[in-house]
Amino acid sequence: MKAIHYFENGGPEVMHYGELPDPVLEDDCVLIAVEWISIEGGDLLNRLVTPPAHTPFVPGYQAAGKVLAVGPRVTRVAVGESVVGFNWCGSHADLFAVPEHFAYAIPEGMDVKQAAALPIAFGTAYDALFTYGDLREGETVLVQGGAGGVGLAAIQLAAQAGAKVIATASDAARLERLVPYGLDHGIAYRSESIAERVDALTGGEGVDIVVDMAGGKGVDALMASLRRHGRYMVVGAATGEVPQFGFFDVINKALAIKGVTFGREMHTPRAHALLAEIFARAAKGELAMPIDREFALSEGVAAHTHVANAHPFGRVMMHP
Ligand SMILES: NC(=O)c1ccc[n+]([C@@H]2O[C@H](COP(=O)([O-])OP(=O)(O)OC[C@H]3O[C@@H](n4cnc5c(N)ncnc54)[C@H](OP(=O)(O)O)[C@@H]3O)[C@@H](O)[C@H]2O)c1
Repeated sequence: MKAIHYFENGGPEVMHYGELPDPVLEDDCVLIAVEWISIEGGDLLNRLVTPPAHTPFVPGYQAAGKVLAVGPRVTRVAVGESVVGFNWCGSHADLFAVPEHFAYAIPEGMDVKQAAALPIAFGTAYDALFTYGDLREGETVLVQGGAGGVGLAAIQLAAQAGAKVIATASDAARLERLVPYGLDHGIAYRSESIAERVDALTGGEGVDIVVDMAGGKGVDALMASLRRHGRYMVVGAATGEVPQFGFFDVINKALAIKGVTFGREMHTPRAHALLAEIFARAAKGELAMPIDREFALSEGVAAHTHVANAHPFGRVMMHP
């Protein structure tokens, strides 16, 4: 197969493109002929900080295409079906093997490229807001990293559930583009104080829930923006910096800090039902993931560089 691969952590330049042996099809797995690869925020974080489990390491969590073959213990998925696949690595290739429990059927007529971008972003956002964040109608949510994949999903889901949505992005032009997706108030995190703006927007009350995709130094401002008994949902560290929480900051405001790790629950019947509902809502036009740019798989270095440096709006996709 043709694949992006690397041998050591680092920037996009550590990635190579070339011929590798095809994936071995385990008994409980399905083999996908990849049509569209969604570059996830975690693909970049892994390349930077997670030592490769084996080398050459083919990165990538998520890709969609037609099922080419199934192992003998597969019962639910058939050859020829269109699915989105998830796995801990391997999506940056023209063949992607995933356990059957990580394959999600794409509804008839749905655009495969759009479907390829949905599961991780919307599943993660849903869990942060509702499954573990307990967001209720009328509450106020602050989304740190609103113009990224998980952020765009969180804005749409929160707004459609009747929450007031505040989100951050690097500049005002990006915030303006979030308004049609449900944004009520935007904060340009490079030029404005998040805590001061939230204070003004909430009449000094603070927000009910923070969903943090960025980590890094922004954590203190997000903690300061929460009301007493607020919930801080830890999703990711797109800044590449893993922060620490102030022990007494948590005590003083009686905050709840909760981690979200959707990937570790994507095999469950609950996650399958949730993603079927997300696909159905996307098919009706209620939910969408904007596609910023498309690259060929052979241009993987340029594609990752674009995601890292160009502040894409939504997802960047690759095709073999
Ligand atoms: N826990 C889980 O289950 C789970 C699931 C999915 C993803 N994640 C993690 O969540 C993170 C986001 O994933 P993603 O797919 O949404 O990534 P993405 O599409 O690349 O978006 C990253 C976002 O982070 C924002 N950002 C970067 N630096 C920032 C800063 N200093 N202050 C505020 N915002 C900043 C960017 O905003 P601008 O471009 O406007 O600067 C961008 O919107 C990644 O670290 C990923 O590993 C975790």
